Amino acid sequence: MQIRAAEEGDAGAIAEIYNDAVLNTTAIWNENTVDIANRIQWMAARQAAGFPVLVAVEEQAVIGYASYGDWRPWDGYRHTVEHSVYVHKNGRGKGVGGILMVALIERAREQGKHMMIAGIESENSASIALHKKLGFSDGGRLNQVGCKFGRWLDLTFLQLQLDARPQP
Ligand SMILES: CC(C)(COP(=O)(O)OP(=O)(O)OC[C@H]1O[C@@H](n2cnc3c(N)ncnc32)[C@H](O)[C@@H]1OP(=O)(O)O)[C@@H](O)C(=O)NCCC(=O)NCCS
Repeated sequence: MQIRAAEEGDAGAIAEIYNDAVLNTTAIWNENTVDIANRIQWMAARQAAGFPVLVAVEEQAVIGYASYGDWRPWDGYRHTVEHSVYVHKNGRGKGVGGILMVALIERAREQGKHMMIAGIESENSASIALHKKLGFSDGGRLNQVGCKFGRWLDLTFLQLQLDARPQP
């Protein structure tokens, strides 16, 4: 398996993985699927802002992706990023998510980021376990801030400190 920067030609596979999460999971709190043009636009915006979009490729097929962007759009938050990681439903439980995350964390450190935030639906035990294994610590829980499939969703924050510099 190879981890590399996403290219325009990956947008179809990324859209497929994203849409499966939209339709079948509470990992994404959206109800609208996206098309390839939408994902090309999303990738271009991320990359133009200097943020990575990484894909995991196996036998020339994209089986997962990960990216981060600003956590909150105000100057004071500029050393903090919020990420997402998705693995194709047929590729889960084989280490792909972990490998993508290790690569993404490395990029964040290279960019001089200080804190990485995961906002995870509180019942998403696979994602919470993945992040805890990577060293993320509890950042709090907000109850019933979302809804999907006719029920309230809680949001669990996990955070990873990326460096030890005492001042920004
Ligand atoms: C969460 C997700 C990215 C994990 O990716 P993955 O490739 O399946 O995970 P990995 O195989 O790399 O597992 C790494 C660790 O995560 C944890 N983990 C992964 N799947 C798990 C599961 N179903 N139950 C419990 N722990 C799990 C384990 O700690 C595992 O380490 P181990 O194998 O040594 O026990 C993947 O399941 C996914 O894409 N889910 C749907 C989308 C999603 O929830 N994204 C995250 C949104 S915040």
